[in-house]
Amino acid sequence: MNPFKLAILISGNGSNLQAIIDKFQNDKLIEISCVLSNKKDAFGLTRASNANIDNYFIDHKDYQSRQDFESKLISILESYKPDLVVLAGFMRILSEVFVNKYLGKLINIHPSLLPKYKGLETHKKVLDNNDKYHGVTVHFVDNTLDGGPICAQSKIPVETRDLEKLEEDIHKLEHIIYPEVIYEIAHGKLSLEEGKVRRT
Ligand code: GRF
Repeated sequence: MNPFKLAILISGNGSNLQAIIDKFQNDKLIEISCVLSNKKDAFGLTRASNANIDNYFIDHKDYQSRQDFESKLISILESYKPDLVVLAGFMRILSEVFVNKYLGKLINIHPSLLPKYKGLETHKKVLDNNDKYHGVTVHFVDNTLDGGPICAQSKIPVETRDLEKLEEDIHKLEHIIYPEVIYEIAHGKLSLEEGKVRRT
């Protein structure tokens, strides 16, 4: 049986990438075929190299338009024919062309309980608003910022006023939930059908 192939897009540290590597590196059914970064110094590229995963740095600044940059991304991605494109801290907005091409095969993780706190600085917003709970969301990507049908959420009570500690706690949740969702999608237990999440 052909493995279910993942392509992972990153821009930074890549701790989620690492969690995915750790979960699937000895899995015969799920394979991480490539990692793409738009940042040269993204530590995730080193993580990919250390795990012998093909990895690429594609500088968005080398391209005149978003479309040209994305065409390059797509040409590399298509050489691997991924079954799922996983955004793991990828800090570029993707155009409708890209999103539509991978609709139902494109997921993202966001550090908040969406629809609360789209965008950046979610941990700070949680503290500023004295929220009782904070959490993470994995969702299929559609053409809305941090929108799209929700695959799974996980939450914790906010028991600290320390921003770094809160961020750390949220990262721990991410590292559990993201590989779990990927596993479910790869095993056909979760999919996007007519714009809605379907679980079987
Ligand atoms: C995570 O908090 C993720 O939710 C957000 O970007 C961050 C990436 O962290 N989309 P890392 O690079 O995986 O450590």
